[in-house]
Amino acid sequence: PLISLRQLLDHAAEHSYGLPAFNVNNMEQMLAIMKAAAATDSPVIMQASRGARQFANDIVLGHLIKAAIELYPHIPVCMHQDHGNSEGTCMSALMNGFSSVMMDGSLLEDGKTPADFEYNVNVTRNVSKLAHLAGASIEGELGHLGSLETGKGEVEDGHGFEGEMSKDMLVTDPEEAVEFVARTNVDALAIAIGTSHGAYKFTRKPDGEILAMDALKAIHAKLPNTHLVMHGSSTVPQELQDIVNAYGGEISPTWGVPLDEIENGIKHGVRKINIDTDLRLAFTGAIRKVLSEQPSEFDPRKYLAPSIDAMSHVCRDRFERFMSAGKA
Ligand code: G3H
Ligand code: 13P
Ligand code: NA
Ligand code: ZN
Repeated sequence: PLISLRQLLDHAAEHSYGLPAFNVNNMEQMLAIMKAAAATDSPVIMQASRGARQFANDIVLGHLIKAAIELYPHIPVCMHQDHGNSEGTCMSALMNGFSSVMMDGSLLEDGKTPADFEYNVNVTRNVSKLAHLAGASIEGELGHLGSLETGKGEVEDGHGFEGEMSKDMLVTDPEEAVEFVARTNVDALAIAIGTSHGAYKFTRKPDGEILAMDALKAIHAKLPNTHLVMHGSSTVPQELQDIVNAYGGEISPTWGVPLDEIENGIKHGVRKINIDTDLRLAFTGAIRKVLSEQPSEFDPRKYLAPSIDAMSHVCRDRFERFMSAGKA
């Protein structure tokens, strides 16, 4: 069935596990996620960015999710708007059948300019009322994604602010988080702890200097009943980088968020872990491999079937590591 984010995360909190939230743009990603969920008996969060909604079309995406639910009627599925930038985006998601929305008021509507606290509170509170009236859930974000290594906002591909940022912008303040949750009534709170979107998060294995797990623990201590969300939480595994690079790709050496740090986060209130990049790498690596080994092949199913398997393998691993396996 389609269920709200709140229902899923309440269950996750009660049973001390976390849920990966995978980004979807197309049928192959949906099938990969659902196959892995069915194999491990895990609930599912699928999320669509504004870009995904544009790429796939709202009508197609809506039916894709309905297909997932029809195929696996025993698996709880939440359909979530990722990084909504305005009341309008979140409202149209709700009207298209999403059961949850993220209002990312950490940035202005352009999705790039850092917003101040009062703007964020106001826009998030407005969407919170709408979402709850619709029986849906809302995720808010406080703090800015970006690198504590470089002191810059998002390091890659046009997401978020790309300029200089101070440490107090890049790491969510626990006191502010308490006020934000009280004034907005969000069901889940995305926090900034030094992660960023895309493949290039860290130049080395992250330690406490560049991945602020202590801040996460301090926020959880002040807000023990708030479900925390980690964005930019792909692991960017070396094996996936290697496959892409072995077949003509060019991924420069890089680090993502280690799985044991995420497991540690789950012990401190993290319930939703956003993952897009890892499935992109698995998808692309598998396609590159087939096309490079069998250059005469031109039936898309010949490279899409292995891509589904490669993505599904990553999904299964995350369901197991975050302990949502067996909880559907
Ligand atoms: O917000 C980041 C997600 O990875 C979605 O990315 O906007 O390119 O679809 P996208
Ligand atoms: P990654 O780029 O680390 O997969 O993060 C995805 C994300 O946070 C989507 O909102
Ligand atoms: Na989100
Ligand atoms: Zn994100």
